[in-house]
Amino acid sequence: MEFLSKSPSETKKLGMTLGGILIPGDVLALIGDLGSGKTTFVQGIAQALSINIPVNSPSFLIMKEYKGKYNMLHVDVYRLKVPELELESIGFEEYLNSDFIIVIEWADKIEKILPKEYMEINFEHIDLNERKIKFKPYGDRYNTLLQELKKCLFLE
Ligand SMILES: Nc1ncnc2c1ncn2[C@@H]1O[C@H](COP(=O)(O)OP(=O)(O)OP(=O)(O)O)[C@@H](O)[C@H]1O
Ligand SMILES: [Mg+2]
Repeated sequence: MEFLSKSPSETKKLGMTLGGILIPGDVLALIGDLGSGKTTFVQGIAQALSINIPVNSPSFLIMKEYKGKYNMLHVDVYRLKVPELELESIGFEEYLNSDFIIVIEWADKIEKILPKEYMEINFEHIDLNERKIKFKPYGDRYNTLLQELKKCLFLE
């Protein structure tokens, strides 16, 4: 499924819509260049989960827990040189199969340690204010999630 966002607030709103139908244990793998809108999208998810602390791309944190309606783990592996090893060393894998919703920026850098099933979300820079956002489900749960998302977007 493809979505064309024409502004940061539209991207955030798309994140909110998805955030409203996520359940504990869901894993989102965000992929896309610098400034393509990944964090903006995560801010929408956070808002839907009633997370009150602002979500940003921290320059020294690799992963951060947020408490809301559900717990969310926000991971950004951009700065890691050996991302898979480094994430393992800080206990990332313990969050898989937990009740955290896991959102990973630059997930293509940690392909080898992603679970079998997750939602891939690709962000593409089209224009100054335009981003193409593509959803690709891996596994039954994420096929269902994508169907639900389409329904929600249609109803808006
Ligand atoms: N349609 C759009 N959707 C999202 N962001 C947009 C859009 N149009 C313009 N922007 C701008 O692009 C930037 C997106 O930044 P953001 O931090 O979300 O990107 P990112 O993919 O997380 O980057 P990084 O890889 O550096 O973490 C913001 O400055 C935002 O204002
Ligand atoms: Mg970011």
